[in-house]
Amino acid sequence: MSNVRLHDKTFRPFIEYDKIEEAIDRVAARINEDYQGSKDAPVLLCVLNGSILFTAELMKRLTFKCEIVCIKLTSYVGIKSTGEVRDVIGMTGSVEGKRVIIVEDIVDSGRTIENLVRIMEANGATETKICTMLMKPGCYKLDKKLDYVAMEIPDDFIVGFGLDYDGLGRNIKDIYVLDSDMKYYILFGPPGAGKGTQAAGMAERFNLCHISTGDLLRGEMAKGSELGLKAKALIEAGELVPDEIVEGMIENKFDTVKDVSGFLLDGFPRTIAQAEALDRMLAKKGESVSGVVSLMIPDEMIKERIKHRAAIEGRADDASDETISNRIKTYHDKTEPLVDYYKKAGAYNEIDGTGTIDEVRDRIALLMERI
Ligand code: AP5
Ligand code: MG
Repeated sequence: MSNVRLHDKTFRPFIEYDKIEEAIDRVAARINEDYQGSKDAPVLLCVLNGSILFTAELMKRLTFKCEIVCIKLTSYVGIKSTGEVRDVIGMTGSVEGKRVIIVEDIVDSGRTIENLVRIMEANGATETKICTMLMKPGCYKLDKKLDYVAMEIPDDFIVGFGLDYDGLGRNIKDIYVLDSDMKYYILFGPPGAGKGTQAAGMAERFNLCHISTGDLLRGEMAKGSELGLKAKALIEAGELVPDEIVEGMIENKFDTVKDVSGFLLDGFPRTIAQAEALDRMLAKKGESVSGVVSLMIPDEMIKERIKHRAAIEGRADDASDETISNRIKTYHDKTEPLVDYYKKAGAYNEIDGTGTIDEVRDRIALLMERI
């Protein structure tokens, strides 16, 4: 089972279909025991839309005569229950003079259940019991004990097996839980360490947006924009462009890129001031740097790799020994202090950047999975 995306959110596997079925078997067996031999035909009250799948699975396991009535209440919006009493939109049959088993997909505070019990009484039900597929004991506020609970879960937002996130996810046969953590990875390292080489694969693997400030700046240079012209001389001298330029680029991406599980920053931050600006940008969103993946290679290898790339890509800042040496110097003077900055923050992880591209890729993937 892998993660699923619904609208703007990622959900990770939580309860497998087999386990759901086993739980339904158990709860159905208890209901059968309690209702076996009854002369009436109790009503299963399916609370639409969430409990469609559960009601169907439950009902086909019941061995006594029973009926089904569906009820639709006004719905929740988004990922939080409003806590408000929901009104009845409609009911597909009568419960007058009948015993009712309310079949819910999930019970959290219990307000809906309390409301439903009242509605059943008002509609002439002679007895009301409650059966729920899932229950959040940490949220439950009522004194009334639920009669049949298939599974208990913590207070997380879940989808699948009838449960949705804004209309989607009901058809998924396993249950998934909201993976609210956006990831903010920094791919760090000296020039030529392999950041760009490895970033694309990692972005795809972890559903991340790869942001290379170097690529963005080269894009501006190619367009001949004002920003590009400003950056050109600095880049070709192996110097850094002003902090506010790259910070603006990053913030713009954070604000506009949607439908990803996070960001992979390549070549940013490069100064302590940029790292502090990044912390501020993330704090505004209630987020923080998830981890730094630092690719380390010796200075000699930097030169070798960059010279090799110069022949293939023709990057202006790869063209002369002087620029390459200045980039390495700029890295040691201005960027390397970030190692301590992120060590202090407990976010720093170092990886050996030597070896083949595949070897380095595997080391990075293993580390990112842990972060
Ligand atoms: P940027 O584009 O970020 O350059 P850089 O940091 O110097 O890094 P490179 O892109 O040169 O290296 P890389 O680690 O991506 O290595 P690659 O994968 O290509 O920045 C350029 C300039 O823009 C800066 O100097 C600065 O002026 C400005 N700038 C950018 N961000 C800024 C910021 N935040 N603030 C201020 N200014 C900023 O690999 C290199 C070569 O090695 C490739 O040919 C590759 O095929 C090869 N290779 C990779 N891995 C291996 C391997 N394992 N074995 C053998 N070869 C390999
Ligand atoms: Mg690069």
